[in-house]
Amino acid sequence: MKRLVIFSGAGMSAESGLKTFRDSGGLWEEFDIEEVATPEAWQANPKLVLDFYNMRRKQVLEAEPNAAHEALVLLEDKFDVQVITQNIDDLHERAGSSKVLHLHGEILKARPENDALRLYPIQHDLNIGDVCELGAQLRPHVVWFGEEVPEMLRAVEVMRKAHVVVIVGTSLNVYPAAGLIHYAPKRVQCYVVDPEEIQQPKLKNLKFIQARASVGVPTVVDALLAMSEVDQV
Ligand code: APR
Repeated sequence: MKRLVIFSGAGMSAESGLKTFRDSGGLWEEFDIEEVATPEAWQANPKLVLDFYNMRRKQVLEAEPNAAHEALVLLEDKFDVQVITQNIDDLHERAGSSKVLHLHGEILKARPENDALRLYPIQHDLNIGDVCELGAQLRPHVVWFGEEVPEMLRAVEVMRKAHVVVIVGTSLNVYPAAGLIHYAPKRVQCYVVDPEEIQQPKLKNLKFIQARASVGVPTVVDALLAMSEVDQV
């Protein structure tokens, strides 16, 4: 089976009702990154940080996968599919994707502030005073600006072996995630789905589909499934 990598960003979940970050009306227009999404913010005002992620956890729990998440699952019949997502929601999993790597963490997990490896599933709000069994304050299992991206190495290995890459709904502004595509083989077949003309990766075999995810992704999926029938991918 050919190896297919989906690389998704906030635009993937936009039509599920979850806001993107950098569009007009996006989260970083309403909130200050320095106040809610850095280790310094956590030191300065942990309650504000917890409130921000409590709000986002609620929104994720209320959201449903959209047509784009669902279409991607169909690829698993014909391809070895690995999703690499920058999103902290679980909509790829709920749609039925079987291999999902979260580069920036998962909002439905918590961890002690002093231990990145011990994870706890969580569906409810996190508050100051919520501690693990060893007494450490719990924080959301998300990667903040200025923190390492522990899953990056695994993502690079996946990208290095890709035959096809589908990039959906990311402005490719945030590193190291945005640099991932450069690890793909030179001749990789790449599709980019976004309603805006984002900065395209410089690749020979690249097709840009200017559309919302719910429209563009099913189109790409249909094309890939048809090509796989006649062995053109
Ligand atoms: N379908 C597809 N793409 C969309 C849609 C849609 N319906 N609506 C918006 N988009 C596109 C925008 O045009 C933009 O290119 O989604 C992209 C969203 O970009 P960002 O808001 O920058 O989100 P993302 O690239 O995922 O951000 C990366 O930044 O703040 C951090 O940790 C956060 O993981 C996030 C990272």
